[in-house]
Amino acid sequence: MGRKEEICQKVKRLLETNRDCDSILKSSVAILHEACPKYTWTGIYLLEGDQLVLHNYIGKPSPHTKIPLGKGICGAAAAQKETILVSDVNADPRYLACSLETKSEIVVPIINNGKVYGEIDIDSDEPNAFDIEDKELLEAVSSLLGQCFPL
Ligand code: SME
Repeated sequence: MGRKEEICQKVKRLLETNRDCDSILKSSVAILHEACPKYTWTGIYLLEGDQLVLHNYIGKPSPHTKIPLGKGICGAAAAQKETILVSDVNADPRYLACSLETKSEIVVPIINNGKVYGEIDIDSDEPNAFDIEDKELLEAVSSLLGQCFPL
């Protein structure tokens, strides 16, 4: 079984065991963070009104616990309802710095039935750390996590 299938199976198990949304989101962050050594900071933001609010994370504390929709890479991904992969954060004018060591970032919206409920945000201290496999993995996980939210 590949990495994507293994991780998705773990997240599916979380969803099937009737746990509450908060604990599913926390456990999913832990599963992703532990499975991928390049993931230096792994977190989930939830959309509350027109702000993204940091729900849980593993890594150094971020000053960006609330991000307005449309601001930063996080706000752009939620506004565009699309994954944003940034191979060099210092070359992206949208980037809101969290740690000086961060070199690359991927943000994947959590969508259910066309509505954005939040997003998975991952930073890496390695430049160009994320590829199509990370994108596909994180989109598969975020699509599963979309089931946590009511339609
Ligand atoms: N870099 C993000 C802000 C969040 S921190 O990475 C945790 C951004 O540009 O939106």
